Amino acid sequence: PLSVDDISATLKTIGLDSVPQEPNTYPALNPFDIYRSHITELLSKSSGIDAKIIYPTLAWTMKPENGDLQLAVPALRQKRKDMAAFVQELVDGFPESPLIEKPTVNGTWISFFFKAQPLIDLTIPSILKAGTSYGFNPNFGLKAQGSSERKKIIVEFSSPNIAKPFHAGHLRSTIIGGFLANLYEGSGWEVIRMNYLGDWGKQYGVLALGFEKYGSEEELVAKPIGHLYDVYVKISADAREEADLVKAKKEEIVTLKAEGKDTSALEAEVQKILDTGVDEQARSYFKKMVDGEPKALGIWKRFRDLSIEKYKQTYARLNIRYDEYSGESQVKDESMEEAAALMAKTGVSEDSEGAVIVDLTKYSKKLGKAIVKKKDGTSLYLTRDIGAATERAAKYHFDKMIYVVASQQDLHLAQLFKIMEIMGRKDVSEKCQHINFGMVKGMSTRRGTAKFLDDILAEVGDKMHEVMRVNEEKYKQVEDPEKVADVLGISAVMVQDMKGKRINHYDFDMDRMTSFEGDTGPYLQYAHARLCSIHRKASAAVSDIPSDLTTADLTLLKEPHAVGLARELASFPDVFINTIKTQEPATVLTYLFKMTHAVSSSYDHLQVVGSDREVMLARLALYSAALQVLNNGMRLLGLSPVERM
Ligand code: ARG
Repeated sequence: PLSVDDISATLKTIGLDSVPQEPNTYPALNPFDIYRSHITELLSKSSGIDAKIIYPTLAWTMKPENGDLQLAVPALRQKRKDMAAFVQELVDGFPESPLIEKPTVNGTWISFFFKAQPLIDLTIPSILKAGTSYGFNPNFGLKAQGSSERKKIIVEFSSPNIAKPFHAGHLRSTIIGGFLANLYEGSGWEVIRMNYLGDWGKQYGVLALGFEKYGSEEELVAKPIGHLYDVYVKISADAREEADLVKAKKEEIVTLKAEGKDTSALEAEVQKILDTGVDEQARSYFKKMVDGEPKALGIWKRFRDLSIEKYKQTYARLNIRYDEYSGESQVKDESMEEAAALMAKTGVSEDSEGAVIVDLTKYSKKLGKAIVKKKDGTSLYLTRDIGAATERAAKYHFDKMIYVVASQQDLHLAQLFKIMEIMGRKDVSEKCQHINFGMVKGMSTRRGTAKFLDDILAEVGDKMHEVMRVNEEKYKQVEDPEKVADVLGISAVMVQDMKGKRINHYDFDMDRMTSFEGDTGPYLQYAHARLCSIHRKASAAVSDIPSDLTTADLTLLKEPHAVGLARELASFPDVFINTIKTQEPATVLTYLFKMTHAVSSSYDHLQVVGSDREVMLARLALYSAALQVLNNGMRLLGLSPVERM
């Protein structure tokens, strides 16, 4: 990246002797930091107000007419009766600056406008030199200012259930979780990506039993996820049929008894089903798994391992890889027993008709009563989560842990965190955060309701292929259209998902998300490919384009469109900071759409090919910077930017 020395050299050329740098700011990484520090220094000197008070009051503006930065004078807390006079006084006393125009009064606010040329000179080289790291800031993840020790975060996301459909909730968790992991990584945190599979409970006894009856070794290896699902559907149908039969026979017994007839034969039949049926067999199978019987566990482990292999391939298409595939089956009995003992000792849990419960209503009515142990002693989803959290704390010593789970499980996670807190593990619970999100409505494919991620992606890819074919001329130029359609389809799904606030529900709208118009994934990809093509076309037109475009004469970028775009690009590091606060992918997306709109409206005004060589190089530098920012933003979101389409 650019060094402070580079910046110092640039600033010297315009008459600034030192690089403005207030504490905890990063002039080499964030152009806006230079401006905030500079304004703070000047205003502090001219008004006598402490820099510490001024700096944090410098805020972004919503409208360009309010300036590039603004300051709410009342927020300076200077106890002045005549506010208007005070604002005027501050503005009048503000000295001449090589970086910013004379500030202006806007009610009780002061507006600051950046001078055009220094903004371009500071921003464009900064982006080109930083390259793939522009916008990100590895200092935010440090344990302390100046230390080299990094904070550690576990992001638990996706977490599908083996042999069950990968539903919309898992899709959203995957997309949002992948993004959050990138976000923390870009902030310098050490990130552990964890997938907590739903792979334990009595239903997995049912599945193992089903495999004995309906399973095919060949199909298991070929398509484990789909096959296990099919097996599960079949064996569950058997179980249901049996249950219906038992019910019918019991009713018959009641009728016969009322008529005074002998029912012993029927009763024996019912008992036989109960003793030998699917349900009982599954129960005893699961018991073997719980008891750690090697054969039962071995079969189960194979299901799990094969499924994970398949999951990995699909996640790779979304640019996601995990550091750990954990899961409910991996939680150790000892951890749960330890937690149970702790809950009992602290009086958090109580016996209730043979089961163990935690009454959380004293803390909040909404939290209700939670069961932590069933009558038969088997563990529960909640119990396993308690055990898992303590295990993770012991293994990783994390500074933060995020659970990316649908808002349908708000209560579950609230109970989990509260129980951890009151059983004496506040050290863990206070580091945990539930990142929730709304539902997707209407996620179905032509083949029926979507079951697996691969099906969804395949279908969107097909649709994208259709959309691409409409423009035959362009389609012919794409080298590997299937591959491009696949990537565009994935982008379509992801952008649709991340466009709104996480908590909002949205409709899965195939036509809208695959359109090149509007704020869609294909639109962003198109914007990226077009920026790539500018460079290609320029290289084709002129032979010796320097690889280092920072040497271009940037004073040739005078047009309002060029300055406007540079300002947009300069704000990306601030957008990144804001995203850390909001933890919303939409913060990044909204910015990327705004920025790409600024790019596309520049094309007519700032042509590259056909301009004089020096002008061409300067504009190429600007567009390269825009390309870099778009590329960085897209990768942050987990998208794979395409170079041609
Ligand atoms: N497997 C669960 C489900 O599909 C999600 C797991 C969420 N994470 C957790 N630690 N409970 O509903």
